Amino acid sequence: MTPLRPRPGTGPLEGPLVHLDSTGSTNDHARELALRGAPHGTVVVAEQQTAGRGRQGRTWSAPPGRALTLSAIVRLPGAALEQLPLAVAVAVCEACEGVAAVTCRIKWPNDVWIENRKAAGVLIEARPLDGWAVIGIGLNVDTEPGEFPSELRDTAASLRSATGRRVDREDALARLAAWLPRLEDEGAVAGAFRARDALQGERIAWTTAGERQAGEARGIDDDGALVVFTDAGERVRLDAGEVHLDREPAA
Ligand code: BTN
Repeated sequence: MTPLRPRPGTGPLEGPLVHLDSTGSTNDHARELALRGAPHGTVVVAEQQTAGRGRQGRTWSAPPGRALTLSAIVRLPGAALEQLPLAVAVAVCEACEGVAAVTCRIKWPNDVWIENRKAAGVLIEARPLDGWAVIGIGLNVDTEPGEFPSELRDTAASLRSATGRRVDREDALARLAAWLPRLEDEGAVAGAFRARDALQGERIAWTTAGERQAGEARGIDDDGALVVFTDAGERVRLDAGEVHLDREPAA
């Protein structure tokens, strides 16, 4: 394993960089720093997480030294915080395509897919009233196919598994430096997301308030909600916070 050797004090978002060998969850570490007043752009990156967290109560695991597991503190106005879920997914796609010969798409709201396998996940924990959020990103960079846990072997990808070539984690980290200006560019996000929308026109199933439903995904609206036409012909908007999107189509 080659540890990251980022330049001390210079994070990819132009704020302080905290580089840890091991931590429970970089999101938890970053949240503590944010509560103590850490500035916009602070990035926490860990070689290993012992309790990595995913969306909707799931866990996130990655072999040490192969993935980028990082969390960034952003202090932004409310409107910019609201569009973070989609903006960060777009930013991760662009970073991946900048360091490896891959094409990334996004499974709403923010899973990054390469050839129908998940390469990155995003966990955003926001405090809109306090004007900050922690953006957690887990990106499989240099993981070899055999290193994924057995239950993920058919569904996960890394930049290395997709290209057959080693990919430098420092290069991927540096590419994420392009984020900051984009996160505040409200006009650009929806269009960039739509161009990468993996669910457009796909049949999907979802569970909301314990009820499973199915329909056809028809892209996002201007608020970033997923628009779906149910089998009964009803147009519904799915909000990422309230909906569990089932991986398998219903039919
Ligand atoms: C998901 O796909 O459900 C989101 C996964 C997010 C994982 C990253 S790894 C860095 C940060 N710290 C965490 O505990 N989770 C996020």
